[in-house]
Amino acid sequence: MRELGIGLIGTGFMGRAHALAFNNARAVFELPVTLKLAALADADTERAQRCATAWGFAQAHGDWQALINDPKVDVVAITTPNHLHYPMAMAAIAAGKAVYCEKPLAVSLQQADAMRRAASDAGVVTRVGYNYQHNPMITLARQMIANGELGEIISFQGEFSEDFMADPASPWSWRCEVEHAGGALADLGSHLLSMARYLVGDVVSVCADTQTVHAQRPAIKGSNDLKPIAVDDQVHALLRFANGARGTVSSSWLKHGYKNHLSFEISGTKGTLAFDQERLNELRVCRVGQDGFQRLLAGPALPGYAAFSPAAGHQLGYNELKTLEVQELIMALAGQGADGTDFEAAWAVERLATAIRVAAKEERWVQVDAV
Ligand SMILES: NC(=O)c1ccc[n+]([C@@H]2O[C@H](COP(=O)([O-])OP(=O)(O)OC[C@H]3O[C@@H](n4cnc5c(N)ncnc54)[C@H](O)[C@@H]3O)[C@@H](O)[C@H]2O)c1
Repeated sequence: MRELGIGLIGTGFMGRAHALAFNNARAVFELPVTLKLAALADADTERAQRCATAWGFAQAHGDWQALINDPKVDVVAITTPNHLHYPMAMAAIAAGKAVYCEKPLAVSLQQADAMRRAASDAGVVTRVGYNYQHNPMITLARQMIANGELGEIISFQGEFSEDFMADPASPWSWRCEVEHAGGALADLGSHLLSMARYLVGDVVSVCADTQTVHAQRPAIKGSNDLKPIAVDDQVHALLRFANGARGTVSSSWLKHGYKNHLSFEISGTKGTLAFDQERLNELRVCRVGQDGFQRLLAGPALPGYAAFSPAAGHQLGYNELKTLEVQELIMALAGQGADGTDFEAAWAVERLATAIRVAAKEERWVQVDAV
């Protein structure tokens, strides 16, 4: 069986999630290739070595370029802050390697455009970490929409809010820098925009408002030294979809009480679907004529769920979604599947996010294909 060498850059929140997902994918699925955890890189060399040992990677590097140059690495997984996605992905593509990059794809539309073009020219497989779309309940929602169970789709109302920046004393981080990240819209909103496109389709025009609520934050935890903040803390937008549906999206990282509130309601002429990532094993549906919502619970009738558990109601979690994402990446690399968000689709998310920023700045409706 063909071997695929995995190289992972970054050992933070997502580095660990990717390492778990690669390990779990080998255990859960009968993959058409053998996965070898070839190399792990982090700017912190000592941590790279420690995590490589703990997570089962054969080699550790302090320099990410060395990982990309490593002939044992076929797939480069990028889990570093957003501004590093571009140089790392471009170097991996230039070396002819597949790229599995965390979201958002880049910190500017120009970078995202160069990345999708380079990947297309090189003919390498790419995937981006829009993991929430791999939930079997989202697959079910997409099927129900495609089968016409909701009738003609007329509305998408989505929100992705968390509260991890709600305390004004929460310190500055790379997520607070325009050049390194891009605020709540880039961090959380990009997932919601990708989900809206996945379920309802292209968006043609937007009107929006963004706001920085806390314009200064401590440089480090507990410090009186304050850094200015220019990225958005919250965003609200109106959408018009190509299929005629209308929508709203909002995102905030200041919203007390919410920890992973990626939620939406999709209404059609025959019914409504509702989902909340904080209850990711559930979908609520109301069909015309019903007096209220019916709760559908994930179970082994859904293949993505059955891979992990033969029993209904035992529930999948965040790391299982990441494992399903890795499975789709591997199937694409084996030439056996085309599911998942590639650089082309992730560029379209960046274009939509950019249109929202332009609309907010210029206080007008913006055509998405004009940005
Ligand atoms: N898909 C999701 O659900 C999800 C969730 C959280 C974060 N993310 C994305 O994952 C990425 C990382 O976020 P995170 O929360 O894991 O960040 P993090 O700060 O926890 O980890 C970043 C890692 O990158 C490493 N790093 C930084 N500079 C480096 C360099 N020059 N060379 C090698 N390693 C370097 C750091 O040492 C750290 O290990 C971001 O793009 C973020 O948007 C995605």
